[in-house]
Amino acid sequence: MFRVGPPRTVGWYDVDFPEVVALRPQVLPQPTNAHTIGADLTDPQWLHYIPADRPAVIVADGLIPFLTQDDFVSLLNRLTSHFPSGELAFNLYTTYAIWTLTHTRGMAAIAGGVVNPGFNDPHQPERWSDGLKLVEEIFLTRAPEVAELPPIWRLTSHLAAPSATVSRMIGTVVLRYRF
Ligand SMILES: C[S@@+](CC[C@H](N)C(=O)[O-])C[C@H]1O[C@@H](n2cnc3c(N)ncnc32)[C@H](O)[C@@H]1O
Repeated sequence: MFRVGPPRTVGWYDVDFPEVVALRPQVLPQPTNAHTIGADLTDPQWLHYIPADRPAVIVADGLIPFLTQDDFVSLLNRLTSHFPSGELAFNLYTTYAIWTLTHTRGMAAIAGGVVNPGFNDPHQPERWSDGLKLVEEIFLTRAPEVAELPPIWRLTSHLAAPSATVSRMIGTVVLRYRF
């Protein structure tokens, strides 16, 4: 929320497991328009706490690896049916990205929680949930932030940037959908 900086007219809801949302007020300020919901996202009940009478911008940052394919698809469909319209953004985890998450020593602490197989076609969610339309695929390899990377990553990003397939393999990709 602090990175996005929405106006006070926006209602903001952070959803995570109860233990995680309980920690948030201890380390982050809680603006009056910010709400926390402690829930398992695979439980359909939590959405009842969020008003359904206005468009929504939904951001799922770093979440998808921890949901099974069926749970992810159900969640997509629940979100698009709950709100009248909106946008949804999440980072793409390709099958290769999932493989590296589960086979890199530095990721060992979270590897056990990775249950999603990943997907390679950014249009795939359109087939999983009627009404979702891919509007943007944002490649880190083409982003201005590349200038702030160490030289070797700058060079790698510049070399990969012309190819969407290679960019998806080596760098962060954010997918943005409308519904
Ligand atoms: C890599 S972190 C991303 C953190 C998040 N972007 C944020 O700013 O707090 C993944 C988060 O997903 C949460 N998570 C994973 N599976 C979940 C589930 N089934 N229900 C609710 N939260 C879940 C984890 O607890 C963790 O905080």
